[in-house]
Amino acid sequence: MPVAPVRWENDRLAILDQTRLPGETVWLYPDTAEEVRDAIRALRVRGAPAIGVCAAWGVALALTRQRPESAERALETVRDAVSILRTARPTAVNLFWALDRVERAARETAGGKASDITESVLREAAAIQQEDEAMCEAIGRHGVSLIPDGGGVLTHCNAGSLATAGIGTALAPLYMAHASGRRFRVYADETRPLLQGARLTAWELRQAGLDVTVLCDNMAAVLMASRRVDMVIVGADRIASNGDTANKIGTYGLAVLARAHDIPFYVAAPSSTFDLTLDNGSQIPIEERDPREVTSWQGIQIAPDGVHAFNPAFDVTPAELITAIITERGIIQSPDRARIAAMFREVSS
Ligand code: MRU
Repeated sequence: MPVAPVRWENDRLAILDQTRLPGETVWLYPDTAEEVRDAIRALRVRGAPAIGVCAAWGVALALTRQRPESAERALETVRDAVSILRTARPTAVNLFWALDRVERAARETAGGKASDITESVLREAAAIQQEDEAMCEAIGRHGVSLIPDGGGVLTHCNAGSLATAGIGTALAPLYMAHASGRRFRVYADETRPLLQGARLTAWELRQAGLDVTVLCDNMAAVLMASRRVDMVIVGADRIASNGDTANKIGTYGLAVLARAHDIPFYVAAPSSTFDLTLDNGSQIPIEERDPREVTSWQGIQIAPDGVHAFNPAFDVTPAELITAIITERGIIQSPDRARIAAMFREVSS
């Protein structure tokens, strides 16, 4: 099984430092909510579901380290940790969803003792992690039949086990198809500027024995034109109520290319990635990152002094370019406002 990037073990939070992969396997053990926030900001832990899981444990960490003496102090510790962690990154809604959950669990704790609040937050963080693992499995089960035996599947960024608490979102159907004996080639976009595809997706798929081919992002059109791609599958950081989907920068371009070449384009995401408070994708906050991520690589400057760089971390793919969204609850074909609302209604009723 691929490695779990976030663990709570022996009262410590362990984070696999993804900036060091694939060369080195380094674990970090933060002690404060600030250190967890900084690890998320620096993409040491990344991927929407993993960010949510990690932030929930970050609140538990603040409580277990600070050992507040009264329930009032414990609630204050939770509020402080939540407000620190909320500033980690703006786009993946899973971060806010998970923090809201642990804060609610703390507030609703009966008993009036600080230790009861700590126990509830630990329980809630563990539940978020376990639910995410189960959601990945369910996404895999719903999506597995889409994977073509003998075909080619293109993915972007990393939406695998390194980005979740389980077997991933976009990669979950691939792992399941592979386990059931289907053979296919995965094309992994390198994903400039931080190379999550080349470094992380290629690494975890190879570890699991899948056939992976890495390509530069600007090679996808030629690959599609040569009929080597039967489907595109990607993850998501936030999905608005009309189906518009934010994911790693470059996803929108792939969706346009897939439409031009008549190739199905799938998004795989758990319900924790939907933000039904947003009417459409234009309302999704898009993270702008340090321009030096574009103008240099591993400390080596690759563009001339004085040039500006455009560096949004995500883009928004309009719902009409998405063939279907694969969720743990089932597949939403041709996603739109009505179909998404129906999926959420069905489950809550
Ligand atoms: O900047 P990152 O590496 O956190 O971006 C990650 C992605 O865009 C993933 O595709 C998305 O979070 C889904 S992960 C299951």
